[in-house]
Amino acid sequence: MTEMRIAPLTADNVVAANALTLKPGQEAFVAPVSHSIAEAYVNQETMWPRVVEADGNIVAFIMATFNEEAADELYRATILRMNVDATQQRRGIGRFAVDAVVDEAVNRGFDQVVAVWEDGDLGPGKFFTAMGFEIVGETQYGEVIGIRKIS
Ligand SMILES: CC(C)(COP(=O)(O)OP(=O)(O)OC[C@H]1O[C@@H](n2cnc3c(N)ncnc32)[C@H](O)[C@@H]1OP(=O)(O)O)[C@@H](O)C(=O)NCCC(=O)NCCS
Repeated sequence: MTEMRIAPLTADNVVAANALTLKPGQEAFVAPVSHSIAEAYVNQETMWPRVVEADGNIVAFIMATFNEEAADELYRATILRMNVDATQQRRGIGRFAVDAVVDEAVNRGFDQVVAVWEDGDLGPGKFFTAMGFEIVGETQYGEVIGIRKIS
């Protein structure tokens, strides 16, 4: 794999982001990218939607939220969704995308990043724990809450 690049979601890459695929069974663990795009559009102040480019192709989408005034501390610096294309998984792209969120959180002065995910065999739990997220509990909807301290 050549160099990866993180870039804002724009009119030029939104169609490619929306066309990212999932492996069978993974759709239960992440909302379609189109939902995230809509959410980012209506919450432009707080959402941080990004794509990962590699070899000139869009290979992943990640959306975080940054809002130090969020009433719920779960959603102050938080990875909400991510999707590495089915054909590109297990090549370090997810790690690169999470590192980009962590860098952004550091630049904004946060001392931790939260991730919230659905538990399950085909879910992202092993990925997030490998990325340094420590499981601290679950949401009222039964989703796993992981925290990665960054200071
Ligand atoms: C979860 C996801 C983002 C991981 O992205 P990825 O690019 O495949 O992950 P990486 O290659 O960066 O993996 C880094 C490390 O995480 C761990 N990991 C990743 N996927 C794993 C899996 N399926 N099983 C076990 N460990 C896993 C490994 O330790 C891996 O390192 P290694 O490959 O050297 O062993 C990707 O599988 C995905 O898009 N899944 C579908 C959607 C989803 O569940 N999104 C999360 C919702 S918030």
